[in-house]
Amino acid sequence: MDPIFEVDDVSVEFNVGAGAFAGGAQKLLAVDRATLRIERGECLAVVGESGCGKTTLGRTLIGLYKPSRGRLEFDGKDVSALRGEELRSFRRRVQMVFQDPHASLNPRMKVGEIVAEPLRVHRVGTAKSRKAAVADLLGRVGLPADAANRFPHAFSGGQRQRIGIARALALQPDVIVADEPVSALDVSIQAQVVNLLKGLRAQLGLTLVFIAHDLAVVRYIATRIAVMYLGQIVEIGRTEDVFGAPKHPYTQALLSAVPIPDPDAERMRRRIILKGDLPSPINPPSGCRFHTRCEHCFAPCLTVEPRLIPAGGQLASCHLYDQALEQAA
Ligand SMILES: Nc1ncnc2c1ncn2[C@@H]1O[C@H](COP(=O)(O)OP(=O)(O)OP(=O)(O)O)[C@@H](O)[C@H]1O
Ligand SMILES: [Mg+2]
Repeated sequence: MDPIFEVDDVSVEFNVGAGAFAGGAQKLLAVDRATLRIERGECLAVVGESGCGKTTLGRTLIGLYKPSRGRLEFDGKDVSALRGEELRSFRRRVQMVFQDPHASLNPRMKVGEIVAEPLRVHRVGTAKSRKAAVADLLGRVGLPADAANRFPHAFSGGQRQRIGIARALALQPDVIVADEPVSALDVSIQAQVVNLLKGLRAQLGLTLVFIAHDLAVVRYIATRIAVMYLGQIVEIGRTEDVFGAPKHPYTQALLSAVPIPDPDAERMRRRIILKGDLPSPINPPSGCRFHTRCEHCFAPCLTVEPRLIPAGGQLASCHLYDQALEQAA
């Protein structure tokens, strides 16, 4: 095992709610004590409801947010301690693709300038070699070479996302964090862009962190899946294990909403409807965060916070898999 990222007990908090009625600033734990390793060359998907902390985790990985506790290591080095050339190297090696291909491309820059910008900022090559690099990158993402001379508005959503991917590839990164890269696209276009990312990962040996809502897409592209709920990772494991036999009741509910292509299995599918609303991350429930909505909730869930423990082939943070607690209850 040779992880490219090691996330050890990392929390990220924001100050919120300093308004007139809030009684001063409050802390919101957007990521709460996340621990995971990201292996070289894998595609790790991060899934969960809106607001569960996926983007915050992704931005922390690329160094945009600083952990308020815990340790983030990239390639064996503490990210918070990187300086000078090491920090510049980290910023080259970890790139992000954003959700909204309209907002993330500067409308006043030509596509060639957009794709070359990271090279220019990091002072890679000459103007001439950068031009050649742009032509190569556009080819890789399936855009014509003359795209370089046009402005982003001349392109469709799917094409714009290809431009964003070309820009992310410019510095030959090791890792791409793709934050909902296809959520804003038509369903018919989504598969093309997902296939492009899948192909690039194989060709270039990229490590991909793929943040998504759509579990069908995740099943197709991810080698492993991390499921988040209210800032915490509640289940993590290989795609086939998580899809084949989800362990955490939250994962079970999420997956029960995904249609199955086989009509017989689809007829048998039991949809688990979660009761109650998503609690506020500013004042999360005690014990297990999920207990207010869980159909299996038992006494320890109200007070004891579960940790990720082995459950099947994966890890789940659920007391159902804690033998000692189950027997005591
Ligand atoms: N800059 C910020 N300042 C204050 N609170 C924030 C900030 N960014 C995110 N949050 C809060 O942190 C929590 C996690 O947000 P985040 O954007 O990471 O969720 P997400 O899983 O990416 O959601 P979505 O699926 O809607 O993109 C949310 O409650 C959000 O309101
Ligand atoms: Mg998000």
